[in-house]
Amino acid sequence: MVDNKMKAVILTKYGAPSVLKLQKIEKPTIKENQVLIKVHATSVTPMDYRSRSAKAPLWPISRIIMGFWKPKQKILGTEVAGEIVEVGKDVTKYKKGDKVFGLGNNVYAEYTTASEKTPLVMMSPTLSYEDGASIAFGGITALYFLKNKANIQSGQKVLINGASGGVGVFAVQLAKYFGAEVTGVCSTKNVDLVKSLGADRVIDYTKEDFTKAKEQKYDIIFDVVGKSSFSKCRKLLTRKGIYLNIVPNYRVFIRMFWTSKMSEKKVITGMAAVNGGLLLLKELIDANKLQVIIDRTFPLEQIADAHAYAEKGHKIGSVVVTVD
Ligand SMILES: NC(=O)c1ccc[n+]([C@@H]2O[C@H](COP(=O)([O-])OP(=O)(O)OC[C@H]3O[C@@H](n4cnc5c(N)ncnc54)[C@H](OP(=O)(O)O)[C@@H]3O)[C@@H](O)[C@H]2O)c1
Repeated sequence: MVDNKMKAVILTKYGAPSVLKLQKIEKPTIKENQVLIKVHATSVTPMDYRSRSAKAPLWPISRIIMGFWKPKQKILGTEVAGEIVEVGKDVTKYKKGDKVFGLGNNVYAEYTTASEKTPLVMMSPTLSYEDGASIAFGGITALYFLKNKANIQSGQKVLINGASGGVGVFAVQLAKYFGAEVTGVCSTKNVDLVKSLGADRVIDYTKEDFTKAKEQKYDIIFDVVGKSSFSKCRKLLTRKGIYLNIVPNYRVFIRMFWTSKMSEKKVITGMAAVNGGLLLLKELIDANKLQVIIDRTFPLEQIADAHAYAEKGHKIGSVVVTVD
């Protein structure tokens, strides 16, 4: 008899990691323009644990989007790596057996659906599912803000605050790839890692406040973890320097508007767009020009532990969740 059930992590209310419940539910069925993916790995991104806890920036807008009283999205999960096991008759891009990775929806489950528009790319044979589930969220974000928003150029001086996290590890490597001179900011335990990613200089934030430096100037300050402010960084920026802060709050939005009128310097915040960047990331990884950094791996059955660990705000690169 065909088993139409699958394991999935269900979210019915906001709260601590323990609100995530592993259950057996109906396997999704695909439309003609969709594929069914057997999920092998996913991850815990800040988007996942904030969607679970409802502690997202830009309250109340974020809360209205996510569901004011209870979550609209019942199955979380942002990054996916898996195998296509069913193909709708209108789909030409994929075939059964293709292995893909990227960004999906409802991924904390054994199976998820996607369409040709879902930002996925083919996995090369050398990439593991764990690696595949650790690229899109941080990589696309770092690429979008450095390239599309700040138009990073070779020879520029770039500082990455939060250089050891999911976005930071890609930001350091991509800034180096684009020819920048990179300073990474992280804590003592991550100094060697950030150096190994190519940073020319590393500032240990437990010993030194980078905003208090007297001489240094940067063309781009990319605050990946939103722990600084434009007012503290302004004097460190070159005349047309750019301050990127990707943890949006209302104050940064006002700054962005105000600075654009009053100064040659720029403040940029907002949400990353996918923009085809995933293909470049895959090519750089295949060419060994970009490393994937994984902190810890948890099985789906321990999703609550994985969320609790990532939510502490000190993960290194990615926290992976494997799905058998
Ligand atoms: N706007 C967008 O489109 C967009 C897209 C993606 C992500 N984001 C946001 O970007 C933020 C970062 O995401 P992520 O995935 O990189 O998070 P993450 O992996 O959870 O970041 C953890 C890292 O931050 C470092 N960190 C913590 N406090 C720090 C401090 N005071 N100074 C410097 N580093 C510090 C930690 O290093 P230590 O352990 O050494 O402290 C750790 O390695 C999240 O808030 C996320 O929501 C925004």
